[in-house]
Amino acid sequence: MKERIIMIGANGQIGSELAVALRQKFGNENVITSDIRPPAELKSGEIFETINVLDKDAVKALLVKYKPTQIYLLAAMLSATGEQYPMKAWDLNMNGLLNVLDLALELGIKKIFWPSSIAVFGPNSPKQHTEQYCVMDPNSIYGISKLAGERLCEYYHQKYGLDIRSVRYPGIISWKTAPGGGTTDYAVHIFFEALRQGKYASFLSENTELPMLYMDDAVRGTIELMDAPAEQLSIRSSYNLAGISFTPAMIAEEIKKILPNFEMSYVENDPRQAIADSWPASIDDAYARKDWGWQPTFDLEAMTKDMIENLKTNI
Ligand code: SER
Repeated sequence: MKERIIMIGANGQIGSELAVALRQKFGNENVITSDIRPPAELKSGEIFETINVLDKDAVKALLVKYKPTQIYLLAAMLSATGEQYPMKAWDLNMNGLLNVLDLALELGIKKIFWPSSIAVFGPNSPKQHTEQYCVMDPNSIYGISKLAGERLCEYYHQKYGLDIRSVRYPGIISWKTAPGGGTTDYAVHIFFEALRQGKYASFLSENTELPMLYMDDAVRGTIELMDAPAEQLSIRSSYNLAGISFTPAMIAEEIKKILPNFEMSYVENDPRQAIADSWPASIDDAYARKDWGWQPTFDLEAMTKDMIENLKTNI
């Protein structure tokens, strides 16, 4: 079957790079990106539509116009911004998803990608090698909305047969696109500041270990999950997905190996610390490995090298 994709929320950190890979795979004419605002740059042949995912009629018109076979719903408010605007975060994250699920059913669009997050875990979840199935008591509005979203995805799969696929992304690190409003953003900012200023003040404490993933792995993994035969997928809520776990102190050490004069300091009492403290330090992604062959390729050293090499020439 010829695939045609609509991506909603395409201008964010993940969408910006996932769209490039999908356009390469399916062709410009078969990947329509959309967001609440136009992108900074649109190359010739690329199709973009301005859309607010909370405007259900507009989303319907978009889907009717392009008749996609797949939807990627990436519009969301992340953890740190979510704590500033809890009701807006809940509204966008929940009603955006419900609009898309309902319209997919109404219009017979079967295949959907929707990302969840490590934020679905909470203070009583195991900290190390957090398993797929364990206590989940998220206490950020972002985590609460993602956990509720996971339950909806599984429900729509079981009850209506929608082929929804999802991963619980850890913090995503990339040199091309900046993240926005997350708790894991420090792990991207640190590279820009290391090259621009030679120093960085981390808003997370030195021993706060969090799960992270390099963008190349995140994009490849997402497409591999979407390509996997449906019968191989045993999880229809969202798959645990692991890459690298590290602390601010560990990444600072790694940067110093390449930039020996780099200086790291720590800012206390940032509200993002409490969010980070409620999340796992590392993730057990056995189901993703077994069901669809997931395998990350970048470790901390390889990622640091790649980030600095690319930023040096592109900053
Ligand atoms: N990167 C996200 C955040 O920090 C986690 O999903 O909010």
